[in-house]
Amino acid sequence: MPEEAILKAKFSALERQKNIYLAGISGQRPAIPIHPDELERQAKEKMTQEAFAYVAGSAGLERTAFQNREGFGRWQIVPRMLRDVSQCDLSTELLGMKIPAPILTAPIGVLEMAHPKADLAVGRAAATLGIPMIFSNQASVPMEKVAEAMEDGLRWFQLYWSKSNDLVASFAHRAEACGCRAIVITLDTTMLGWRTRDLEMAYLPFLRGKGIAQYTSDPVFQRLLDEPDDASTPQPKRRLTWDTIVSLSELLRAYPGGWFGNLRSGRALKAVRKFINIYTNPSLNWNDLAFLRQQTKLPILLKGIVHADDARLALDHGIDGLIVSNHGGRQVDGAISAIEALPNVVAAVNGQIPVLMDSGIRSGADVFKALALGAKAVCVGRPYVYGLALNGEAGVREVLENLVADFELTMRLSGCCSISEISSEMVSR
Ligand SMILES: Cc1cc2nc3c(=O)[nH]c(=O)nc-3n(C[C@H](O)[C@H](O)[C@H](O)COP(=O)(O)O)c2cc1C
Repeated sequence: MPEEAILKAKFSALERQKNIYLAGISGQRPAIPIHPDELERQAKEKMTQEAFAYVAGSAGLERTAFQNREGFGRWQIVPRMLRDVSQCDLSTELLGMKIPAPILTAPIGVLEMAHPKADLAVGRAAATLGIPMIFSNQASVPMEKVAEAMEDGLRWFQLYWSKSNDLVASFAHRAEACGCRAIVITLDTTMLGWRTRDLEMAYLPFLRGKGIAQYTSDPVFQRLLDEPDDASTPQPKRRLTWDTIVSLSELLRAYPGGWFGNLRSGRALKAVRKFINIYTNPSLNWNDLAFLRQQTKLPILLKGIVHADDARLALDHGIDGLIVSNHGGRQVDGAISAIEALPNVVAAVNGQIPVLMDSGIRSGADVFKALALGAKAVCVGRPYVYGLALNGEAGVREVLENLVADFELTMRLSGCCSISEISSEMVSR
């Protein structure tokens, strides 16, 4: 990120705190709740039932989602005193990029379910603060449009490896062309987890044409659409009900090109069918990674690593960085929490490549603990979606600013003036 962007993004926790209290004198409360549970509660009131279930829900009994947060509770910060914390620098360096705080936005798909401005709102909020955004493979807005809205804001691209390597290559080339500075391959979603809340609602947004904008805007995907459907793929038979008509209408609206045009061409339905057939690739394995390496000069990170042996394999395969993550508990219910997995992965990597983490980050203390356990940076997930649902771009900005402010105060009150001072000696179990 250019240095000016970092200067633009000067955070001050004390200013933020002061402004909130001063506004309180004239009876004004923060528009976006400060506590993450209250944030979620208010977002639930604002969102449709389906949208909230999709965002808040996890796999199975949601034990991993619960443990992601509980896991942080098992670590305690041990603050140090008398260290002159009058100045504090939150900035850090990641894969040669200077960032103003060790926080990125996690890739989250189908943001149109939270707010019509979706990825554009998140992109603008992140860029204003200098916080990098990781574009989702399942975005609601094509990456080029979000990149344009972000101007010089730092962005990465997250890839789901589909069944078509041509499509994988096309996504990588587009990401590079629109200024993404790294590619994150998400490994934990070779198929969708057993997402109880979504199943209960019988609701999958992709079937309504939502969250497939990277595909519908892609020349290779469009070419694939022109190929005849695989005859061996059975076409689902739907009963014609009022709900079928509403869903079809939603789909025709979501697909680029206009409602009537899409109805006539049948292309929107075809796109959803094609997407469903190719978007996951259960056969993906370590040998496939070389293909992406040939397609791009960008650093490649792997998201979803929680086992030390996989971290070592990633090193063997020349990977540039890891994101310890269990997808916010949305894939394997009962899987180890991300914060529990982090120290082993960090030890296996032994400083050779940066390790980031997500899943369960809700407060400044969580960010601090993750850094103390060896993460270079963290990705924040659901909380910014709730901010988006409540107040669009401004809501995302507020959530991110609150998290950074909370982190800054945690750092300074623990006796740290810079990121490098946050070490494993500052936490105990
Ligand atoms: C609604 C939703 C959609 C998501 N979509 C994606 C996605 O498209 N790609 C991806 O790699 N991860 C996706 N994730 C996972 C996030 O990147 C991240 O790992 C997770 O949100 C972290 O957990 P937390 O939200 O509990 O902090 C999604 C998560 C949620 C909640």
